Parts: sequence; structure tokens; C-alpha cells
Amino acid sequence: MSVNKQNQSEIEKEAAAKTAVSFVRDNDIVGLGTGSTAKFAIEELAKLVNNGLKIIGVASSIKTEELAVSLGIPMQELGKTSHIDISIDGADEFSETLDLIKGGGGALFREKIVASLSKNRIIVTDSSKKVEKLGAFKVPIEVIPTAYQYVVNELEKLNGIVNLRYKEGKIFISDNNNYIVDVDFGLIDKPQKLSESLNQIDGLLAHGLFVSLTSKIIMAKDGQLFTFSK
Ligand code: 5RP
Repeated sequence: MSVNKQNQSEIEKEAAAKTAVSFVRDNDIVGLGTGSTAKFAIEELAKLVNNGLKIIGVASSIKTEELAVSLGIPMQELGKTSHIDISIDGADEFSETLDLIKGGGGALFREKIVASLSKNRIIVTDSSKKVEKLGAFKVPIEVIPTAYQYVVNELEKLNGIVNLRYKEGKIFISDNNNYIVDVDFGLIDKPQKLSESLNQIDGLLAHGLFVSLTSKIIMAKDGQLFTFSK
């Protein structure tokens, strides 16, 4: 990406994130996403908290937990949370049907739990994430290491091309001590159907197809904001 495009994308991410934060109310329990777009939302929320807004955050990753705590946001453990009022997270791809691919940062499992617990699920993105059909971005899938080869076999039966994720020359290990595989299914005609098939695989902890888990997408493009909702 050229420097100009990169700057543009950061400006868009920040604008979308700040708009999403305006939907947070006093006393809300707020699900905090992971990634560079969610980071803008967390920073904006922290400013409001320091000016007196009362919220409790619930993090979707260790990195997000550390950031939120460092900025002074009161936090509650995800495992002890039964309800989230509003969550703000990013996405790697989205379509106008509000289906998403998430997990580029490897936080998909906790992100999915946060989204599932949330009443109002807001996704914030720059304009590069909008696609006609999901699937150019490979679907991240979290796999329990003991089941690795079994899960790979099952994914190949679904015509997936499986790549084990590495970071800095080592196998990437998720916050939950699992592997992430990035799976190329080609362009996905039926996200719901693929999601259901993936949900059947034992040893597959979570996949990055988020279907019916989004209330609203806020996207910034060329200084304008666009909202997608059902
Ligand atoms: C992390 C995610 C992120 O939301 C997704 O990768 C988007 O990241 P960014 O906002 O940095 O573009 O799903 O697991």
C-alpha cells in the first residue's frame, strides 16, 4: 500500500471508530474489539472515561485488555460477562449483507464471544474492507493443536486450501494457546452454509466467518461516513 493510501485508510478508520463511540451510553458494558480500527475506538472511549463517562469494558484479546487498562478504562473479564450492551470491532472484509470475515489479528474466538454477548454490535472499517462477495481474504480458523491434522483434513474436504499461520518464523499461537490456519475457500457464495459446515468440525474452536452477528457497519470513505444495517 502506498504511503498516501495508508494514511487515507488510517483517517477512515479513525473517523468510523469515533462515530461508533458516539453510540456508547453512561453505564454501558462495552465490548472492545481488536486491531488498528478498534484501537481508535478504545482511545476515544478512554478520553470520554477520563472526562467522567461511566462504562465497563470487556476485551476481545490480551492486547486490547492491556491497552484499555493502560488508558484507564475499568474492565471486566470476558469469562464472567453475561451481557454486553454495545461492542465495537473491526473487520477484514464485509459485504452489504453484513456478513464478515474477521480474525486477521488472530483474536476471532474471543471476538465472536464478545459479538454473541452483545445487544448492539457495531463494526467499524475503512473503505478497503467492503467487497461484493467474501473470500479474497482467507478465512482465519482457530484450531486446537491436538486436532490439527484432523481439522486440516476436514477443511480440505470442503475444498479449502489451508495455510498454518506463522509470525516471525514461528507458528502463531493465539491468546487461547491454539493454532490459526488461514483458509482459502475462493469467493464464498453462501457464507451461512459454509459457516454451518465449519461449525460441525470437532477440534475447530472458531472460524472467522461472522454471519448474523452484526447490527451496523460504519465505514468511512473520502471524508464521508456510510452506514450499513438491516
Ligand atoms: C482481529 C480482527 C480485526 O478486527 C481485523 O483484523 C481488522 O483489523 P484492522 O482494524 O487492524 O484492519 O478481526 O482478529
